[in-house]
Amino acid sequence: MVLGIGIDIIEVERVRKLVEKNPRFLQRIFTTQEINYCQKKRNKHQHLAARFSAKEAFFKAIGRRISWTDIELINLPSGKPQLKIKSKEKFPFKKIHVSISHLAEYAVAMVILEGEK
Ligand SMILES: CC(C)(COP(=O)(O)OP(=O)(O)OC[C@H]1O[C@@H](n2cnc3c(N)ncnc32)[C@H](O)[C@@H]1OP(=O)(O)O)[C@@H](O)C(=O)NCCC(=O)NCCS
Repeated sequence: MVLGIGIDIIEVERVRKLVEKNPRFLQRIFTTQEINYCQKKRNKHQHLAARFSAKEAFFKAIGRRISWTDIELINLPSGKPQLKIKSKEKFPFKKIHVSISHLAEYAVAMVILEGEK
């Protein structure tokens, strides 16, 4: 059954400004693997913003905040995104579904948590 759902939208420009204003922002929010993935992309701030949005959507789905870097968005060989959560066993859900999308101005993400009641 569905245990939680979260959705988030963010302005790409907001993330760009945060990254450029504070060099520590990247390391505080994103894992090394996330940063490496986004750095290779032409529109890296769009990809970063989508990952930021996915983490916010996860917070909404579980109903609280955890450390940003305890959540990692990875891409399967097909490109499909997947959320990896540190100490996942502490949470009641069994499976996480995530989808992200981004344009020049906005990035969005949706998270659905599945498990037993
Ligand atoms: C995957 C696809 C739908 C992305 O759509 P898009 O309009 O170009 O771009 P969006 O901004 O909406 O989405 C980009 C995100 O889609 C996600 N994505 C990539 N491949 C995906 C896949 N196979 N399934 C689900 N999500 C995927 C990624 O997370 C990507 O963002 P990221 O590179 O920052 O991680 C598009 O490239 C496509 O149609 N690819 C070929 C067919 C395919 O694999 N379709 C899968 C869905 S039917």
